[in-house]
Amino acid sequence: MLEQKILSTKEEALGEIRNTRTKDALFAVRKKYVGRKSPFNQILKGLRDLSVDEKKKIGALANTVKNEILSALDDAENSMTRSFDVGKEKIDITMPGRKIARGHLHPITLVQNEVEDIFTSMGFAIADGPEVETEWYNFDAVNMPDDHPGRDMQDTFWISRDPKRKKGGGIVLRTHTTSVQVRYMEKHAPPFRIIIPGRVFRHEATDASHEHTFHQFEGLMVGENVTMGNFLHVSQQFFSAFFKKKINVRLRPGYFPFVEPGFEFDISCVMCDGKGCGVCKHTGWVEIAGAGMVHQNVFVAAGYPRGRYTGFAFGFGLTRLAMMRYKIDDIRLFYGGDLRFINQF
Ligand code: FA5
Repeated sequence: MLEQKILSTKEEALGEIRNTRTKDALFAVRKKYVGRKSPFNQILKGLRDLSVDEKKKIGALANTVKNEILSALDDAENSMTRSFDVGKEKIDITMPGRKIARGHLHPITLVQNEVEDIFTSMGFAIADGPEVETEWYNFDAVNMPDDHPGRDMQDTFWISRDPKRKKGGGIVLRTHTTSVQVRYMEKHAPPFRIIIPGRVFRHEATDASHEHTFHQFEGLMVGENVTMGNFLHVSQQFFSAFFKKKINVRLRPGYFPFVEPGFEFDISCVMCDGKGCGVCKHTGWVEIAGAGMVHQNVFVAAGYPRGRYTGFAFGFGLTRLAMMRYKIDDIRLFYGGDLRFINQF
């Protein structure tokens, strides 16, 4: 009698579980069949009135059936979690998933990586230094003492000025990657060749080819017999690897306190193929770098003996190279924060 009741309760419960479509309804079925007040529980309670033999038999059956119902309830709930959201909302599991936006490198980083690859393939090491720099490394150590007119060439963001105006005591946002030259030379003896990519800052008005924050990469090769010829070779190798096409270059005499002689380095404008446009200010040329032979005063500031070594140094506008590479006609787009621009890379 009890045995039959247990088996029919089981059939009833499994049937209801099969026909249940929502989690709320399933919860009600669970309460009805295995809850505290369920008829099924009443049966289990009634076991105490049975003989020992019957108790064993019916008890074992009741437990098995209860477990079957519980596992059918769990299975139904799991499959609902897969195909239904909690509550009424239905989820179609055959729908394509939501695309997770993948991050990507900034165009300046892409160009920097390329530049690093080309120079490391020519035996250059990569060095770096701080963006917040002492006045000493940014100016004084590279032959630009406090009263040097050369300082006017680079409008500076000062973090603090030294009230006593002692040698190099202020703190600046570095105006050029040249600031890392003496830092590096203090720790390394020649011969060496390095590039120093990094972000630099100038307190100046912006236009299509000038930003207040931009990237440069410095080059420095020092040894006992390094000449301008080495620089020309290295820069030609660099340009043919970077642009993969013939680029006209020109050197003009230029003044930088930390080199002697010094040069301005222009390349033909890639935007207009030298015909003239807004980026090259209708000259057909874009100023891309400063360069020259390292001034002996810089070696002395780094602790090298005067006259023992020679070296060339250059400072390339990395952001300008990125403009040329991707034909971007306004430098301000790189850090403007416009995702429609950035997402194209
Ligand atoms: C310098 O910064 C020197 N330190 C370069 C140098 C290093 C000369 C070693 C000799 C030896 P200059 O201010 O010209 O020089 O800047 C170098 C390059 O950075 C420029 O040719 C240009 O490509 C880029 N540049 C300069 N100012 C800006 C700016 N406001 N926005 C974007 N790029 C700039």
